[in-house]
Amino acid sequence: MNGAALDPRALRNAFGAFATGVTVVTAIADDGRPIGFTANSFTSVSLDPPLLLVCLSRTSRSFDAMTRTKGFAVNILADAQKDVSNTFARPIEDRFATVEWTRGPFGSPVLAGVAAWFDCRVEKIVDAGDHGVLLGRVEAFHDSDRNGLGYFRGGYFNPTLDARAVSAASAGHLHLGAVIERQDEVFLLGDAVRSLPGCDVDHGEPLAALQAKLEEVTGLPITIGFLYSVYAAEGNGRQHIVYRALAGEGPVRSGAFVPVDRLAQQRFDSQPTADVLNRFAMESSIGNFGVYVGNETAGRVLSIPRKA
Ligand SMILES: Cc1cc2nc3c(=O)[nH]c(=O)nc-3n(C[C@H](O)[C@H](O)[C@H](O)COP(=O)(O)O)c2cc1C
Repeated sequence: MNGAALDPRALRNAFGAFATGVTVVTAIADDGRPIGFTANSFTSVSLDPPLLLVCLSRTSRSFDAMTRTKGFAVNILADAQKDVSNTFARPIEDRFATVEWTRGPFGSPVLAGVAAWFDCRVEKIVDAGDHGVLLGRVEAFHDSDRNGLGYFRGGYFNPTLDARAVSAASAGHLHLGAVIERQDEVFLLGDAVRSLPGCDVDHGEPLAALQAKLEEVTGLPITIGFLYSVYAAEGNGRQHIVYRALAGEGPVRSGAFVPVDRLAQQRFDSQPTADVLNRFAMESSIGNFGVYVGNETAGRVLSIPRKA
């Protein structure tokens, strides 16, 4: 598409093909209030002098305050901070009420738990169509060992987990499983000893193979959702990846739906299955799910924001 009449929506979608991280840009307004907004237009510009930029829409409520300050900070969000990104993109009155923050060495708010932050002096503000380019000179920065959150075509992604899944798939040592939900029940195979449905994937498209397997076993339409657990099993050397999935209506072909509040009374085929389902039962009761990453005995749960 070219010429004068570019379709803005199509253009925006095409820009979205560029995968980015996610930042929250913060400053202290003239009246002393902390202000901030979510931005993925961040770019590093120069090492000598140390410069970076971010683009701010003229329609932003904080455009005037942001373009009057002497400094701003760019906070690069960590992979567990999707909720922080959403908070600073929505018209919430006090965005800073829900996050921990302090003032950086140059004075702008730096948020807790971020992958990295840069506290900047305003170098220049450039008019650029419906946006302003904030060019900042880095006065202080901090880099943590946390991985960054990703953003691509209007959705968040987790580059580290996705890379692990891809490398396990390409190495041909991948077992995919699913916690299939329907209302307040979970689908399990077996009777006296329960297991999660899943399949080994040695070639082809892993999620398509998992979906086909789940629909074959349950006889129901299945929608695969969020990643739930990624762990390497010591015994068989396989990478195990467990997704959450939703089942449609109808009678099941095999196995059974077990109420979530009865999961604790079940016997499972392995300790990792028991761990996944015990965690699922606990997280369902508080409505806040995480992603487990580790091996079958040790790892960590990365929190995922509470469901709306
Ligand atoms: C992932 C993501 C990236 C965004 N990137 C930008 C950006 O680079 N520049 C911008 O002006 N708005 C961006 N936005 C939109 C603003 O965060 C949003 O419009 C916010 O409400 C502005 O707040 P304000 O009007 O209170 O300043 C982004 C939103 C999201 C969810």
